[in-house]
Amino acid sequence: MPALNRRWLLAKRPSGESVGEANFRRVDTPIPSPKPGQMLVRNLWLSLDPSQVFFMTDRPKDGGIPLGGVMQALAVGEVVESRLPGYRPGDVVHGLLGWEDFTLTDGVATTNVQLAKVPRGTPPSLALGALGFTGMAAYFGIVDVGKPASGETFVVSAAAGGVGSVAGQIARILGLHVIGVAGGRRKCDWLVDEAGFDGAIDYLVEDVGSRLSALCPDGIDIFFDNVGGPVLDEALARLRMHGRVVLCGTTSRYLKIPRPPGPARYGALINVRGRMEGFFASDYADRFPEARKALAGWIRSGQLKPKEDVMNGLENAPKALARLFTGANLGKQMLKIADSSTGP
Ligand SMILES: NC(=O)c1ccc[n+]([C@@H]2O[C@H](COP(=O)([O-])OP(=O)(O)OC[C@H]3O[C@@H](n4cnc5c(N)ncnc54)[C@H](OP(=O)(O)O)[C@@H]3O)[C@@H](O)[C@H]2O)c1
Repeated sequence: MPALNRRWLLAKRPSGESVGEANFRRVDTPIPSPKPGQMLVRNLWLSLDPSQVFFMTDRPKDGGIPLGGVMQALAVGEVVESRLPGYRPGDVVHGLLGWEDFTLTDGVATTNVQLAKVPRGTPPSLALGALGFTGMAAYFGIVDVGKPASGETFVVSAAAGGVGSVAGQIARILGLHVIGVAGGRRKCDWLVDEAGFDGAIDYLVEDVGSRLSALCPDGIDIFFDNVGGPVLDEALARLRMHGRVVLCGTTSRYLKIPRPPGPARYGALINVRGRMEGFFASDYADRFPEARKALAGWIRSGQLKPKEDVMNGLENAPKALARLFTGANLGKQMLKIADSSTGP
């Protein structure tokens, strides 16, 4: 057990194309004690997600935190001391916690993410990844927003990332023809050789439009978008009749101030009577058990292979976040801080 609480505070809001160590300041403070109605959680694993940069803005509606505030993240932690009814030391919980060794919480959600116990036996990395918000976004984005039919053509951007890699594999399991767009040969090889995609496009060196035309000769039924920008435009231009664009995220825009203009080719939706729809995984909280059951079943049967990119050590939190914007991560980016008291 550490003697002090290492904490990463927001020192500078992002301005420009990158985010990383220069935006944070580390302080080591005494470990706090819970008051009545609170518990002390030791953070074990942090999830890194591109949208966490919204916590770094001054926009309260996006969960923006003040300068000098502790950086937030979805995390899995272990209760070490509890004065909160319903929680006991040793319980493993998932929720919005902090970039710090220990977080004091009253268990009340300040965002749309509710603190919840992680079922016994679920590895923390899966609780954050394929069985966490990452998996929930992939599952409901496809099943509810995309409304797939077997045999349709499915294209996903940031295909080798956390959400994209699960989304593409779900689409393959559901019988769709799956093409991934990702940055770099290493990622594209993984998509085809390991994740079972039918094809992959390296948008860093290939002409995305002509490659989409070659790999999706009859057009695209579902485009699952994680990044926005030029790839979205190329996909819009190739939508089939009644095609759907699932708006999961727009990572390419998150750090840009001012935001670049939106898609130029959205008029294609009129021609194909198409639909473009955004969603939040948290909207489906009451159906998470359904998604977890399906995803866990596919993982058990070997049809779905969760891909995790794990860094170690709380001291590396800013570096882990930066990887999402340089495209260094292959699979869901996480940071392991500590083992639980009962083992890894
Ligand atoms: N709607 C929801 O409920 C929900 C829930 C969870 C996540 N999300 C969103 O889903 C998206 C994926 O999240 P994730 O956690 O799985 O992250 P991720 O895709 O694992 O990581 C980000 C990836 O985005 C790509 N990227 C970064 N900067 C880019 C740029 N300028 N242009 C094009 N691509 C860029 C990189 O992949 P390449 O190397 O392939 O470019 C990078 O690896 C994010 O936008 C996130 O906010 C939405």
